[in-house]
Amino acid sequence: MFFPFSKANPLFGLDIGSSAIKVVQLKEKKTGYYLEKFGIKTLAPEMIVDGTVMDASSVGGIIKELLAEQKIKLKDVAISISGHSVIVKKISLPAMTEDELEESIKWEAEQYIPFDINDVNIDFHILGTVEGQDGQPQMNVLLVAAKKDKLNEYISLVADAGLTPRVVDVDAFAIENMYGVNYGVRESEVVALVNIGASVMNINILKNTMSSFTRDISIGGNRYTETIQKELNLSYQDAEQAKRLENPEGVNPEALSAVMNAVNTEVAGEVTRSVDYFKTASAQENIDKVVLCGGAARSRGLVTLLGERLGVPVELANPFNQIDIDKKTFSVEEVQELAPQAAVGVGLAIRKMGDR
Ligand SMILES: Nc1ncnc2c1ncn2[C@@H]1O[C@H](COP(=O)(O)OP(=O)(O)OP(=O)(O)O)[C@@H](O)[C@H]1O
Ligand SMILES: [Mg+2]
Repeated sequence: MFFPFSKANPLFGLDIGSSAIKVVQLKEKKTGYYLEKFGIKTLAPEMIVDGTVMDASSVGGIIKELLAEQKIKLKDVAISISGHSVIVKKISLPAMTEDELEESIKWEAEQYIPFDINDVNIDFHILGTVEGQDGQPQMNVLLVAAKKDKLNEYISLVADAGLTPRVVDVDAFAIENMYGVNYGVRESEVVALVNIGASVMNINILKNTMSSFTRDISIGGNRYTETIQKELNLSYQDAEQAKRLENPEGVNPEALSAVMNAVNTEVAGEVTRSVDYFKTASAQENIDKVVLCGGAARSRGLVTLLGERLGVPVELANPFNQIDIDKKTFSVEEVQELAPQAAVGVGLAIRKMGDR
């Protein structure tokens, strides 16, 4: 999306999540992609809060440790942002050339963006041209605006770690790329991609192979941890552990189940609300399926509950579905275990300069 310092070098994907940093490096061969590097390092909960970097030097230190651990030699990196500081909107404009739009996008965008236009960087993607109600050609444009202070915060974070950010993407689009490479997007399918991280959930609904609806909602794995902490009177660490385990020691299983179920219901409610909104807004009868990723997509019972709520198949994405993993370099089991958290990183790693 945004290209701070354009130059066509190989790059790797660095997903700076609020709970963990993920690094993914892929190599493209004639036969497809294969995994070169993959690693995750957890952040302390107060380092990035709701997408705001609170402790840049600690986060930078962890990025450096992760790069060293994984022996990443590349300096060029693709990163991404999401949440309140990013606006993605599908807008309709009179047909014009890309150059003309480049000239006028700032003025066109102004009415759609709830921030001062001078405080944001704007990018766009022309989705296609259709005949408008007045018979004149109209074009659908995907407008992306990101607050400059947020962009600069993330750019300087990676620059301080000795890296050059070549691409700054948006989480929802990275997921779309991950899905395209691993599953292929069929013309006829309407699929909701849902990335559930620690503090934010990104929804991107694809229709006619393109992003038709996106929304970021402030709910994720932290809601599970915080609710367990409160309801079961546990420390943050114990609560974080409890939600991942089948039968955590010293924890009442019924009480834990009840909390998981309550938060699953809340998450499923948010997904359902967005899907319903999309259906109304795009006169779409139903969606074909939901594909989940992100660490919190593994929350026990969520896939089943969401399937029941929506009445459509819900599955967990494997971001390495079409990516070769060398058994000599990686523990395949370990990679599969962490795979849901790799989704954005994989989407970023397949970015090339000049991609939109
Ligand atoms: N097995 C599991 N069961 C339940 N939750 C899990 C599991 N594994 C990880 N999580 C949760 O997933 C979240 C981390 O996922 P992810 O790495 O996708 O988030 P992030 O990118 O750091 O966050 P965000 O995108 O919101 O900034 C954490 O809340 C973590 O507790
Ligand atoms: Mg994330």
